Amino acid sequence: MRPIVPLSVMVTSVTLPRVPDVGAANTAELNTTGFDVERVRADFPILQQQVNGHPLVYLDNAATTQKPRAVIDAISDYYCHDNSNVHRGAHALSDRATAKFEAARQSVADFLHAESSVQILWTRGTTEAINLVASSWGGANLKAGDRILVSAMEHHSNIVPWQIVAEKTGAQVEVIPVDDTGTLDVKAFAMMLDHRVRMVAVNHVSNALGSINPVADMIRLAHEAGALVLIDGAQAIAHWPVDVQALDCDFYTFSGHKLFGPTGIGVLYGRRELLDAMPPYQGGGEMIETVSFTGTTYNQLPYKFEAGTPDIAGAIGLGAAIDYVNALDRAAAAAHEDALLAYARDKALQVPGLRLIGTATNKVAVLSFVLEGVHPSDIGMLMDQQGIAVRTGHHCAQPLMDQYQLPGTVRASFSIYNTFDDVDRLFAALEKARGMLL
Ligand code: ALA
Repeated sequence: MRPIVPLSVMVTSVTLPRVPDVGAANTAELNTTGFDVERVRADFPILQQQVNGHPLVYLDNAATTQKPRAVIDAISDYYCHDNSNVHRGAHALSDRATAKFEAARQSVADFLHAESSVQILWTRGTTEAINLVASSWGGANLKAGDRILVSAMEHHSNIVPWQIVAEKTGAQVEVIPVDDTGTLDVKAFAMMLDHRVRMVAVNHVSNALGSINPVADMIRLAHEAGALVLIDGAQAIAHWPVDVQALDCDFYTFSGHKLFGPTGIGVLYGRRELLDAMPPYQGGGEMIETVSFTGTTYNQLPYKFEAGTPDIAGAIGLGAAIDYVNALDRAAAAAHEDALLAYARDKALQVPGLRLIGTATNKVAVLSFVLEGVHPSDIGMLMDQQGIAVRTGHHCAQPLMDQYQLPGTVRASFSIYNTFDDVDRLFAALEKARGMLL
């Protein structure tokens, strides 16, 4: 692994994209992307509130996104009119609940461009989806000497499940290096590949830094070496369209709550022949075909992996979130987020003592930083007092923080409803916090 060099040195050497000509902090003037952010904001009731006496500036979108009225209404409507169990009751409510639940699965399949909705498994979120693959596929297929590659910038949920299955099977987990800008080292990755690598598990986007990984190239290289690839898409899914067939990944995971949907629901996409061959993850209702004390047979896909009453309202809410996203101009939304990031990065570079953590060329709208001599959590607290919601800490990526020799960072993560005024408020609050802490 390359040695850590002070990021303040590296930042000066990074070529930054052109920052919009911002002049006065006037949202209409700044919005050069043609994206109607005020119209989007109006869809999110939670944003219209004061926190600690200030209008809320919500910049914790990498942790969870807010929910548009359409999603809240879809969940409320389900409980008001259709609540019932799915695939079970021979009555109207159950039929309606089942139809909505399966329509949501089809929406996810279309959204990911999966071949079939049977490849879409409902999970509690990305974490459970990765645990499912590690436990089911890994438990059945890994053996001593096999290698699992994860990157140095994985979330704990894409490290620990692999460590657990490695411990059980004798496989080993190895780390794809990431350089000091937060860029995955693809050359080193290619050199690590051999016939003993059975699984490559990487995030599409780093939650702590926002770096976008070159997953299409990595999938191609991994497949050439005979390895499977799981992509943790939790931080990518809200930012651009994902096409699992074009990517040619074996597994893709995401969480509903990072896509303007509810918490407690997530998705595992899998290649059909892999899912067919994998043993169940949990036993119980729905996942069986027949049960007897002499032996049990399992249901077909996707139900084989869906034991117990699922989060029906969650799936319907996620379906509504997908409808909401599909109605957006996604290219304009992405351009808006990019412009926010460029504007914020320009402002960050003018703050004395601020070090950007994660300066990869390819990034989504995540600004991670530390302020010299100040603990990130103190900044977070002072931001909150001014109505600004950011996340501080290790972001469930402790190995990456160890590489930077940091206890954590302050992370501002932007979404479609953030404005340039939000960025101005962030840096005004930071300036105030600096004045109080230094
Ligand atoms: N994984 C989420 C984050 O990065 C919770 O904040």
